[in-house]
Amino acid sequence: MSRESSNANVAPSEMVESTFGERRARVADVGLFFKKFLAKGRQISSAVPSSPAMVNSMLRHIDFSKPATIVELGAGTGPVTEQVMELLRPHHRFVAVENDPDFCEILRRRFPDTTLLQADAGRIAEPLANLGIQKVDYVLSGLPTPNLPRRAQAGILRWLRKSLAPDGLFIQITVAPLIYRSFYRRIFGAVNYRMVWLNLPPGGVYCCGRPKGVFQTVG
Ligand SMILES: C[S@@+](CC[C@H](N)C(=O)[O-])C[C@H]1O[C@@H](n2cnc3c(N)ncnc32)[C@H](O)[C@@H]1O
Repeated sequence: MSRESSNANVAPSEMVESTFGERRARVADVGLFFKKFLAKGRQISSAVPSSPAMVNSMLRHIDFSKPATIVELGAGTGPVTEQVMELLRPHHRFVAVENDPDFCEILRRRFPDTTLLQADAGRIAEPLANLGIQKVDYVLSGLPTPNLPRRAQAGILRWLRKSLAPDGLFIQITVAPLIYRSFYRRIFGAVNYRMVWLNLPPGGVYCCGRPKGVFQTVG
């Protein structure tokens, strides 16, 4: 349902209240994100959620006019999920994955229509297969991939090799771009990077394809 039609029968005063309520909830979500960053550090890797500019830079790699299965890893409080939800059409399949229970609660509240897997991204082959998903066209990753335990990295790479479509893309946001260039080059046969200055801190997007056939864990 479009935003316009969903607001059609709502009185203006109710709309102002709900917008205010939403804003307050967003501020609380950012506060929670920062607290999680302080508590979990490298498992979160960023002090604040991604900016709209960062998300735009991720989503420009997706051709939404064509049918596709899209999986988001590490959805956090949902800045990527939000924009994806606005662009989805009936020919898309979308699943968000997040392992933190508090973030999952926020995601369920904000996106009640989204399929959410509360799961470890390193072990998603089976839960996705249970949803009937064997092949994936786009993986949107907000995970702190280079900081994940080796076992989780290995699980993700095994899944990508098996499930990413031949012309599929693994699209990764990062706020420490240059440090990890060699990491992504070791794993993928095709790696492109684009800087995004309008983010706190500035970062960028790696767009990668052709996961390598020979598996190596990366520390
Ligand atoms: C840098 S935040 C990105 C959040 C959001 N996508 C954004 O752009 O603001 C990383 C997210 O990955 C999640 N995460 C970390 N390790 C994970 C794992 N093994 N499985 C699933 N999610 C994980 C964290 O809980 C956090 O929400």
